[in-house]
Amino acid sequence: MTAPHSADLHTDPRLFSGLDVYAVAGNPISHSKSPVIHQRFAEQAGQRMHYGRLQPEINSFAIAAKTFFDAGGKGMNVTVPFKLDAQALADVLTARARLAGAVNTLWIQDGKIYGDNTDGAGLVRDLLAQGIELHSARILLLGAGGAARGVIGPLLEQSPKCLVIANRSNAKADELVKLFADIAAKHEVALESRALADLESPTITQYPFDLVINATAAGLSDESPLSAKAVVNIFVPSSFAYDMVYGKTTAFMQQALQRGARVSDGLGMLVEQAADAFLLWRGSDLASAIDPRAVLAKLRS
Ligand code: ATR
Repeated sequence: MTAPHSADLHTDPRLFSGLDVYAVAGNPISHSKSPVIHQRFAEQAGQRMHYGRLQPEINSFAIAAKTFFDAGGKGMNVTVPFKLDAQALADVLTARARLAGAVNTLWIQDGKIYGDNTDGAGLVRDLLAQGIELHSARILLLGAGGAARGVIGPLLEQSPKCLVIANRSNAKADELVKLFADIAAKHEVALESRALADLESPTITQYPFDLVINATAAGLSDESPLSAKAVVNIFVPSSFAYDMVYGKTTAFMQQALQRGARVSDGLGMLVEQAADAFLLWRGSDLASAIDPRAVLAKLRS
């Protein structure tokens, strides 16, 4: 039986006796590539498991997740809009999940629900796999919501030269700078906040960036957070523009391409965050058995 307010997407663990059952929960969820990604990892690592989808109603995440775990579910990935609900639900949070302020991976251990956030590690691994140098890089992060917050810690750990967080409302970016000040100091990173509008000013934004990451929700509605004036200050041909949205060349990516910069969507981040979740669930000893880049290449083909 699924949770009373969930769409029945055949993810009831009791329907799969003898198999460990996992799911991704989001709303909407029908578009999710997570089931196919985890199925490929399971094949690569010789794991017998089922991975399905759950679509709780907007206010029913906790009941849907509890019902899933009570029925024997082993682990869950969590996506928009439930990452904060997942954090609230977890009995135990990893340090990076606490810092990220959101949870994308849940699992049962010793009768408790554990929560972690693998998004930031996934982004960093995808960038490194694409040959992007993060050490000493000038990085601009667009957005100050949950998606941005989730990746700041792992980016700072790579010791870039600077990380500028730019948001429509400067106050939210300021809060994140305060929250991550200690980690920035530890890794000797100049961490700054800026209003998006300040990116237009050559006196405030005096140099272009090596890496610009779009973590705003603007991409979803096919807008870019960057004005034409800001684009000129930010991108040079050696820049790399990364949009966390996947499956399309977004308006943000098009702006970067027009300036001669290289671009990427966020599909690699999706695959890499899934790889971390898979290893949390199935054991880190399987790291050499799975090949996220091959899974990514197959998804792109
Ligand atoms: P998420 O968890 O996906 O990050 P969120 O917490 O609602 O979602 O945050 C959305 C982010 O996208 C915010 O940084 C928001 O800017 P504000 O804080 O100023 O609202 C940003 N955003 C959304 N639409 C945008 C747009 N059209 N242009 C620029 N920024 C946008």
